[in-house]
Amino acid sequence: MDYAGVDGRRTDGSAAGEDGDVVEPLSAFSDRAVASDPELYEAFAEEGPAAWRRAADLLDWETDYETVLDDGDPPFYEWFPDGRLNAAANCVDRHLDERRNQLAIRWFGKRGERRSYTYLDLHREVNAVAAGLRDLGVEEDDVVTLYLPMIPELPIAMLACARIGAPHNVVFAGLSAEALATRIDAADSSYLVTCDGYYRREDAFNQKSKADNARLRADADLSATVVVDRLGDTLDAPLGDDEHEYEAIVDAHDGETVEPVARDATDLLFVMYTSGTTGRPKGVEHATGGYLSHVAWTTRNVLDVRPDDTYWCAADIGWITGHSYGVYGPLSVGTTTLLYEGSPDYPDRDRVWDLIERNAVSVFYTSPTAIRSFMKWGAEYPEAHDLSSIRLLGTVGESITPKAWRWYREHVGGGEAPIVDTWWQTETGAISLATLPGITPMKPGKVGPPLPGIDARVVDEDGEPVDPGEPGYLAIAAPWPGMLRGLREGDERYRREYWVEGEDGWRYRTGDGATVDEDGYVTILGRVDDVINVRTHRFNTAELESAIVGAEGVTEAAVVGDGDGKIVAYVTTRGDVDPDESLREAIGGRLARAVGDVARADRIVFTPDLPKTRSGKIMRRLLEDIARGDEFGDVSALRNPEVVGEIESAVREM
Ligand code: WT7
Repeated sequence: MDYAGVDGRRTDGSAAGEDGDVVEPLSAFSDRAVASDPELYEAFAEEGPAAWRRAADLLDWETDYETVLDDGDPPFYEWFPDGRLNAAANCVDRHLDERRNQLAIRWFGKRGERRSYTYLDLHREVNAVAAGLRDLGVEEDDVVTLYLPMIPELPIAMLACARIGAPHNVVFAGLSAEALATRIDAADSSYLVTCDGYYRREDAFNQKSKADNARLRADADLSATVVVDRLGDTLDAPLGDDEHEYEAIVDAHDGETVEPVARDATDLLFVMYTSGTTGRPKGVEHATGGYLSHVAWTTRNVLDVRPDDTYWCAADIGWITGHSYGVYGPLSVGTTTLLYEGSPDYPDRDRVWDLIERNAVSVFYTSPTAIRSFMKWGAEYPEAHDLSSIRLLGTVGESITPKAWRWYREHVGGGEAPIVDTWWQTETGAISLATLPGITPMKPGKVGPPLPGIDARVVDEDGEPVDPGEPGYLAIAAPWPGMLRGLREGDERYRREYWVEGEDGWRYRTGDGATVDEDGYVTILGRVDDVINVRTHRFNTAELESAIVGAEGVTEAAVVGDGDGKIVAYVTTRGDVDPDESLREAIGGRLARAVGDVARADRIVFTPDLPKTRSGKIMRRLLEDIARGDEFGDVSALRNPEVVGEIESAVREM
């Protein structure tokens, strides 16, 4: 790991956290904010882990917990270990008394369809699916893989699993058959819920054939597959003996109720695969009680969501953001969550603003990648709509530049809405660094201080805090409720991957480089390991590179992000191979097969050699600078400095 050279440069020329402005929360917002008491920070600091009762007490417990945190065997921490609860009961049943007729999910499909579920509707369908899954043999602790696009059946299936204590394993619908097979095997899952296909713009995609291919590849024998009919007659996919129609299951069990299974707070709620520092994805495990508490608390206190909001988190449920803030967060606090299957620019570039206007969305949460597209398309699109319903804006996934921050606030937030820049990870489960919007001043481009109760620090190699402005590693020095409870790959891997034991206890490594200013505001500089964040997805460079090297004639590959949401692959070939169009296609095919279309290389740069240090390490940072069109330093210490000019001109010619 090295952060030398990481200095937070951005493609628009401004550096994250650079411009030094402080933006105070407006009283119009603060006066009615969920979190309004500045003492909150001190209270958490004084009370220690016990302060997190505030989060757990937002939930209904089947058996009350007495212990908040068991830290007797670090780094295997257990939150609320003697409490019992059910996540689905917390997201659905407990809202029935007060708001059974309130909308829980409002869904907009790719072809202009709409569907709405009240909490009562949601209760009915979750129960029917839970009964159906049981009928198929799913028992408590059986892992169910869900391979579905953004349709209501995805959150419903998640909640049905949670209801019967079966952990779910959601695989992003855009991932390939091979990636699905790997995740079914690694999670040791015998059940799959998928669909016939889905639409992307005008075109229907055959999801079922990907699922079928995965079944052929997977070692695990699937006992049963449930298939949602998303396309009607568009794709004719005959079902096999162990395949069942989702609709038939719902019909057969309509009106049945399934008692929610009381789970230990430490029991597995779900597993989510994400890229780590090796080529194979890691199965991040989240426990029921700590995860749901932290997610509910941040949905209220950071995103300021209340039951009477219409709230929209634009992230796909196939990744952690959609799990935490598209499903569990909003439903646990009893609000209306908007689900959108389509693209932001279809049928036109005002689609997002049109949805906000027609649903009077009050809290909108998206990524800097999306905001960059909105900026490129132009302010005339949001300006053509009445966005006055917006009360708060959120962003997550990568650093936002001060310029993009201002654009977002001006053109979407009416110049007044606070913006919460939220830092967290698949592993942290929930938001960990952010301002509290009614209390904490904002600094455009900086995520802000750690949340109350999160002991995040920027440290050097030895774990010592760095001086303000100095680059270091972002670490978390005490456990927090939303933290992963472990990895599917076992305790040893979990400890090795994330934890360092220091003199003052155990420290969680985030893998991010960061700086901190005099006020304790953190600026994220980017990953310091071999992970790249592109288009809000996280990839391991080795995973992509090994797929590329699989193409006939390719000898070496290095993959970087260009800072603008695109993947650039530098590729060297065997002397007798002509690097032409067909090789580009072969490489594209390899990536699509190994990972999925989301991993497409936007640019493939053929080069005679890759820049390497004397010890043979590929200088990825330099390649990233070239991809971004940034200045870079002295390269004379390289083993092959002469190659840099060639690469630069190859990139410029593209
Ligand atoms: C990585 C985690 C859970 C969020 C979605 C991605 C980067 C996340 C920010 C932010 C700068 C950010 C970090 C982190 N990241 N939020 N506000 N500012 N960088 O989850 O796929 O687990 O990726 O996303 O590098 O480590 P993920």
